[in-house]
Amino acid sequence: MDRRQFLKNSVLSGAAFAFSPPLPWTQSADARIELLLNEPLGFISPLVYGQFTEHIGGVIYDGVWVGKNSKIPNISGIRRALLDRLSEIHVPVIRWPGGCFADSYDWRDGVGPAASRQKRTNFWEVEPDAQRLHDSGRQIFESNEFGTNEFVEFCRLSHAEPYLAVNLRSLSALEFDHWVEYCNSPQGSTSLADLRSSSGFREPFGVRYWGVGNESWGCGGNFTPEDYASEFRRFTTWVPSYGVDLQFIGSGPNGDDIDWTHRVFEELYTLRPYHNPRFTGWSVHHYAWNLSRGRTQDWSAGKGDALQFDNVDWYELLRESNRIEQIIGDQWATMGQYDLSHQVKLVVDEYGPWYSEGTELDPTHIFGQQISMRDALATALTLDTFNRNPEKIGMATCAQLVNNLNALFLAHEDRFIVTPNFHVFALYAGHQGAQALRAEFSAADVHYFRDGKPASFWGLRGSASRKGRQVNLTLVNPDVKNPKATEIALMGGRAAQASARVLAAADPHAHNTFDQPDTVHVRNLEVSVSSGQLHVTVPPASVAAVGITLG
Ligand code: AHR
Repeated sequence: MDRRQFLKNSVLSGAAFAFSPPLPWTQSADARIELLLNEPLGFISPLVYGQFTEHIGGVIYDGVWVGKNSKIPNISGIRRALLDRLSEIHVPVIRWPGGCFADSYDWRDGVGPAASRQKRTNFWEVEPDAQRLHDSGRQIFESNEFGTNEFVEFCRLSHAEPYLAVNLRSLSALEFDHWVEYCNSPQGSTSLADLRSSSGFREPFGVRYWGVGNESWGCGGNFTPEDYASEFRRFTTWVPSYGVDLQFIGSGPNGDDIDWTHRVFEELYTLRPYHNPRFTGWSVHHYAWNLSRGRTQDWSAGKGDALQFDNVDWYELLRESNRIEQIIGDQWATMGQYDLSHQVKLVVDEYGPWYSEGTELDPTHIFGQQISMRDALATALTLDTFNRNPEKIGMATCAQLVNNLNALFLAHEDRFIVTPNFHVFALYAGHQGAQALRAEFSAADVHYFRDGKPASFWGLRGSASRKGRQVNLTLVNPDVKNPKATEIALMGGRAAQASARVLAAADPHAHNTFDQPDTVHVRNLEVSVSSGQLHVTVPPASVAAVGITLG
């Protein structure tokens, strides 16, 4: 049986046809998508399209913050080019100040007059990647020039909600209360509100989202699950609210560590039940880092290079990224054994590929790395996974926004470019706040050899959503060599109009640089409508977005 015949047969026997008659299958198609317009999966929270910024390397200083007196165009010290680009992708939420940095951060160091702010040792001073830096640099000694006021201003200018990560390891629960008080107490009500007002911020910030510790199983304190549960309970009991609908996000597992989630939830729900309606998020971090093809679990030895890779490494990185689907399923099932009503949603507040150092654009950019088409596909398949699980994912923030692991932007001094990841967020922006739809994909797997043994990866996947008559379908073709001639059948409606855009490059290593900022860019993709079906050819190694207006 040839590949196309196999595909046709597999489609014809698919569950989707149990309730609607099959449409004829075009001989030349490689893939088919059944888009079930009347099968909503749930509302895709706009917050799923969030970003993460930490005081590490070049993220804040050089990336976001250039300073009010800089010659680099800025608004209130924030890099203007960054704000302009963020408005194109409608960034809904930004997480700050860490990451691991958060559990060593005293928020009081970053408020009050800039001239009198405390200079402190940055958490990342001990990181091996930081050892190459000049030891008096601001990546090593934190100036606190950028603090809570500046971050909230950055969020306002970006029209994003602030999401603050609380220091659970080295500050007290009372200091957490005071940070909430500083941010949210009404003008004139408390001494901390007066302090805020004295910096020009009279109106309360109204911060809703608070992460209670970061990676509390590791850099955030090396807690046991039981000890963390006890701290979480202490930190989140009777926090002053000032009428703000506070939401607390607990520090979830390392990758898919089910034991951590079991034991924290068992403590909070079964052994010493704790009913706090504000506990609504459970953080998950998933980095795709191990490209050793099963040879090692060592954090340094297992990593690959951001730009030097072969086709097997390409699939290896996508496979590692794709583990997010399993993680979401496992964690959700575990949480549901205790939190029966699923009050707590998953907050994937760090995700992306993580490579060895060497491709950062400036030595001060700790964890800075180049972003190629491979990373764009990893990001896109992750966002598609979130879209397909709208009831489970409350929020997500990509790690990290600029000059870091899975960056959307690279900046140094007056130079600034967008990476392929930015284009992915632009292509996917239409999913924000839309109703996710069921879409059945049928495409043969990609087959290849991994160290002499046959291996495979899925051939085409994506996600779909709908806002009124507008349907968005995003697609990832991981096949590094072959395009996918794809038929899209609309079940329960007809297309009046359709258009498509694609992020593709002849070379899967393609990336943007300061000298060649537009090597990877979005272009239009032909899409045709005939007999109620759409036809689009998705190029190899690409991400596509099809916009459909229903008749
Ligand atoms: O994103 C870089 C670091 O990775 C974060 O600070 C930490 O939370 C994670 O381990």
